[in-house]
Amino acid sequence: MSDSQLKVRIAGGNAIRSLHADLPVNATFHIWLKAAKPDVPGSLSFSNVRGKFGEVSVTNAEEYEFRIFHVFGGGSVELDYDTDQTSVSVAYWFALADVLETGITVIHTNPGNAPPNIPDSYHFRPPFGWMNDPNGFGRFGGRPHLFYQHYSHGLRWNTMHWGHAVSSDYLRWRHMPIFLFPSEDLTARPDKRGGAYSGSAIPLADGPGIRVFFTEQVQDRIPEQQIQLTATSSDLITAGNADVILPYRPLDEGLTTDFRDPYVFKGPDGRWKMLLGSQSDEGGVVLLYETHDHTAATGWTYIGKLLVEKHYRTTAIECPCLLPIDGPATDPATRWVLILGLMNSEDQSTRRKNLTMAIVGWFDGQTFSKEFEQELDFGTDNYAFQAFVDGDAIVGIGWLANWADTGPAIDFPTAMTLPRNIHLSAGELHTPPIGAAESLRSHILDRTRLAAGEQVSFINGSVEILFELEKPGAHFRLKLHHPTVRLEVVVDDEGLAICHEDGGAAQSPHYIAKGARPRRLRIFLDYGSIEVFADHGRWAGTKRISGFEPVQSARLIAETGAVLHATVWALKP
Ligand code: FRU
Repeated sequence: MSDSQLKVRIAGGNAIRSLHADLPVNATFHIWLKAAKPDVPGSLSFSNVRGKFGEVSVTNAEEYEFRIFHVFGGGSVELDYDTDQTSVSVAYWFALADVLETGITVIHTNPGNAPPNIPDSYHFRPPFGWMNDPNGFGRFGGRPHLFYQHYSHGLRWNTMHWGHAVSSDYLRWRHMPIFLFPSEDLTARPDKRGGAYSGSAIPLADGPGIRVFFTEQVQDRIPEQQIQLTATSSDLITAGNADVILPYRPLDEGLTTDFRDPYVFKGPDGRWKMLLGSQSDEGGVVLLYETHDHTAATGWTYIGKLLVEKHYRTTAIECPCLLPIDGPATDPATRWVLILGLMNSEDQSTRRKNLTMAIVGWFDGQTFSKEFEQELDFGTDNYAFQAFVDGDAIVGIGWLANWADTGPAIDFPTAMTLPRNIHLSAGELHTPPIGAAESLRSHILDRTRLAAGEQVSFINGSVEILFELEKPGAHFRLKLHHPTVRLEVVVDDEGLAICHEDGGAAQSPHYIAKGARPRRLRIFLDYGSIEVFADHGRWAGTKRISGFEPVQSARLIAETGAVLHATVWALKP
């Protein structure tokens, strides 16, 4: 960071680490520390030209027991701590008055929670630590806001917070201060992991700001480990105290303790509705609630099970969302799309796990009747997808990963998918990248060689490839040269597939859109991912690639005359 620097000096035999930042008046620091050793308190002091103006101290020393401090100051500030006694995980500062415009300034992370150094990458990633589901995705105060499941101190899932970012185009994001924190209770009891789980946001009824809804999870809490909370924020930066709105699951519905991921939206009757994911003996369940309170703060009552999903041995439903897709919410003829994460599901014919389904039908405010269903993404690394109606379009974003590939013992840095629109076309659901994705195109790398079957080399890992076939379903094999993974996009008699073999012990799933016969392919490569959009998003396939090695070149193999034209762009965030 230009206005911050790190110095380490030795004072009295100890290693004193100094973090320096030049701050506007009224800046806020968020800084997390813990004692480096048990029984020896840790501390950190703040000073400026007038001398020391603050000190914070900690006694907790367990692995994940970093404590947050909010410290206010201004001017040229020095933060000093003794690395033998104090361990600092993250330090950033911001000024509340302009943080929506400027973002936070990170002055410290550790090797264990630092973001990857990939400045050309164009997918959203957190500024430090772990990320999973998108939460509270919406346009508030005129700007797109993205909140997300976050843990600051490592690259593995742990006690959940809500991270936050703001954009003007859904593609270039400014990082905001952490928005929601787990209750104190959890920080003090790291064995009871949980925290502020997934949820959604709506505009505040009476004034600027937002109301968020989320699940609070406390492992083994009796009688409910998952309950629903709401909080408001008038400045869109800090959340006020949270209130419990649903302390219990509905009675007599045979549900497991899964009861999470509130998604709040306006129903056809003008009332606020809430979906929650759960599980019963019959399969995964979507629960429906509603309230007559126009502020959505109180009065939430249970309506019933909106859907029971048995396919693919699904256990719980996660992160359901429901949107009017081809007309206004108030018109009974309007179709709605219900999008669901099928936790623990497995499509045995392809070995793909944790599928996300999109079910199209009609929603009358109380019940949902299905017309047809479609996989949202044949690559399955587009999980916990969350969408909202933005003017006359639907915009959604997903977690570019799959729980099947992660585990408590491996670091797993992840990104969000490209934001996508959702619409119906000729009775099928399409999820193309948002139009603004074209603004990522920096310059053309090739317009002739790929189409002619020659190898095209890339200058970095951010690339878009667009080609059109002479007829739908014409066979091709796009070979993508990656240093560690065998990667191809293929159309053959079976359909459209992403072939991804990483040499791991387990046989790789077959990422296929069976029966797809596309004509136009648009493929986005980034450090750590591939996204395939066929026929304007009629088929979408997203696959995370482990590590951050770039794809280096491509070769398109097809019969002579089968490729009408092909263009390759270098992309720039
Ligand atoms: C989905 C999910 C949600 C839960 C969150 C916890 O990926 O399991 O159901 O709220 O992640 O981080």
